[in-house]
Amino acid sequence: MKSTYDEVYARWQDDPEGFWADAAEAVHWYKKWDKVLDASRPRFYRWFSGGVVNTCYNALDRQVANGRAEQPALIYDSPVTQTIKVFSYRDLLDEVSRFAGVLQRQGARKGDRVIIYMPMVPEAAIAMLACARVGLVHSVVFGGFAAHELASRISDARPRLIVSASCGLEVGRVVPYKPLLDKGIEIASAKPERCIVLQRPEERAPMIAGRDLDWSELMADAKPAECVPVAATDPLYILYTSGTTGMPKGVVRDNGGHLVALNWSMKNVYNIEPGEVFWAASDLGWAVGHSYIVYGPLFNGNTTVLYEGKPVGTPDPGAFWRLISQHGVRALFTAPTAFRAIKREDPDGEYIRKYDLSSFRTLFLAGERCDPATLLWAEQQLGVPVIDHWWQTETGWPMGANCVGLGMLPVKPGSCTKPVPGYDVRVLSADGREVPAGQIGNIVVRLPLPPGCLPTLWNNDEGYQRSYLDTYPGYYLTADAGYKDEDGYLWIMSRTDDIINVAGHRLSTGAMEEVLASHPDVAECAVLGVADEIKGEIPLGLVVLKAGVRRPYDEIVRELIEMVRERIGPVASFKVATVVKRLPKTRSGKILRGTIKRIADGVEYRIPPTIDDPAILNEITADLAALGYPR
Ligand code: COA
Ligand code: AMP
Repeated sequence: MKSTYDEVYARWQDDPEGFWADAAEAVHWYKKWDKVLDASRPRFYRWFSGGVVNTCYNALDRQVANGRAEQPALIYDSPVTQTIKVFSYRDLLDEVSRFAGVLQRQGARKGDRVIIYMPMVPEAAIAMLACARVGLVHSVVFGGFAAHELASRISDARPRLIVSASCGLEVGRVVPYKPLLDKGIEIASAKPERCIVLQRPEERAPMIAGRDLDWSELMADAKPAECVPVAATDPLYILYTSGTTGMPKGVVRDNGGHLVALNWSMKNVYNIEPGEVFWAASDLGWAVGHSYIVYGPLFNGNTTVLYEGKPVGTPDPGAFWRLISQHGVRALFTAPTAFRAIKREDPDGEYIRKYDLSSFRTLFLAGERCDPATLLWAEQQLGVPVIDHWWQTETGWPMGANCVGLGMLPVKPGSCTKPVPGYDVRVLSADGREVPAGQIGNIVVRLPLPPGCLPTLWNNDEGYQRSYLDTYPGYYLTADAGYKDEDGYLWIMSRTDDIINVAGHRLSTGAMEEVLASHPDVAECAVLGVADEIKGEIPLGLVVLKAGVRRPYDEIVRELIEMVRERIGPVASFKVATVVKRLPKTRSGKILRGTIKRIADGVEYRIPPTIDDPAILNEITADLAALGYPR
């Protein structure tokens, strides 16, 4: 098929409001919008203002009404519990309506927040959809975060209810969630009225009388709740993501714009027809999980797969291929790190050839930069197009992609292809001028952002402007650096802030530095992301101790590693730290993290002209060599 990308992009550019109004006709509205784009409040654009919708209605009721009642809506595949369970659209609607009734019975009303802190079980998706059904704002917290991270989200979102589970299952270990939940609530400055806890058979949790309620008991006599119509501009959810400090940013998603954009993306970006099976191998705690495990596929009448397992080790590197063949998956979406892990264990693709993958059409990768070697390996082994695409929690759907539904453009490994219709992506120099093709700069998107992207941060309009709008007036700052080539292809190379991507998980080195700095023996510290063969990047900590500290260094390092695991969570993968005498700095006192990273990665570097004392670089090189860097 000849690509229609250029025409569709031009059509959007000529008439953005007409473009999105047409896309909005594909979903159900109780009342249509007064304005497609509402620009009445400078810098705070809103989509479909005046419109009234319900996200859950569009995900479930509309599909049942359109004849999909018996079609599988969600397949839960959990090698860690040896379970496969299929929910038809009718089943899912029934479960969601009843849990929505439970939430209402607990006093939750439109606009109240509900935190969902759960492992990859269907009940987590049911809880999300139930919130959407009755106008509650959900905030899912990834299970790999520890109590302090949970607490900061509770303090900010101030939820009326928390929905959780007794435990999660990682490879070879049960992770009890309840102690983390209890501690999180204890530390948080706001307390929920009730916690609803799913008791899993692998480990039951002790309950706190008067506060904790059992999911199954509540569901046993639950009355289904009908959809509550909400304004298109009302918040559907808050998803916290790493910012440059220990306090995560509460990305807000609205109902109407999100519905329209995700629905459009399923056909046009992912080329998925209603009725087909779509699998995003991610976690519900991330934006990918929200958009492409739950909402997008259900809006589009697909069967979605919810996978409680890993790419390797559950039980082997053939796990993905087993799922694809068993469930007839058409398209898989995951992070490049998953493929690097598979490639390491099965370099010749022997496990791939054990399965019938005839249903499989396209592999989508995102979440971190995809190295060409991984992309080419996947393409060669699978014999299907491998599409690298680029997006952020903030946007909720891709900014740059090869829109397969519009007809594929040639793939250039290492590039996420072109801006998706809706996004006017530019590359600017530090002084705000567009740079020529091939030259690296700051990647920005001209305002307004399309439907589906964050309208603001939760209770923090000021922080939204400061983080995203102030640097280049008229543009959204992505905090990614990269370039456009002569053909208009986008190359996303790195972050411009202190965010690192560890196994596709977005983490802030600033937040880790805050933890290290709170150790009583630490005078100053630096955390930076160093290259890792599987995870893409992993954090590395360097600390300078206070004068007079005489304790053994390895003891202190062990404590630091434990503190990050305890305060941020195991997902930070913070396992390497060392004590150094001094940190290299500029004359104005800024730590030269970029230079340390280049030394650790074995990449050529120039001694920064602003460096205070170049001799420190030799010391750091020796310290890193002692740790085995560069690897
Ligand atoms: N609950 C509790 N702990 C969790 C967790 C969860 N939901 N998710 C991860 N962890 C823990 C892991 O058990 C591990 O703990 P450990 O240090 O005791 O081993 C730690 O957090 C790091 O996890 P992870 O980064 O997942 O590393 P891993 O070595 O277990 O697995 C990969 C590596 C590549 C297989 C894995 O990261 C992966 O599948 N990545 C896919 C990426 C992805 O889904 N990205 C989302 C955006 S698309
Ligand atoms: P998250 O908010 O967790 O989705 O992380 C977003 C960040 O991940 C982006 O700002 C990029 O730095 C990085 N990222 C995501 N997808 C890609 C990609 N395809 N190529 C390069 N970087 C990516």
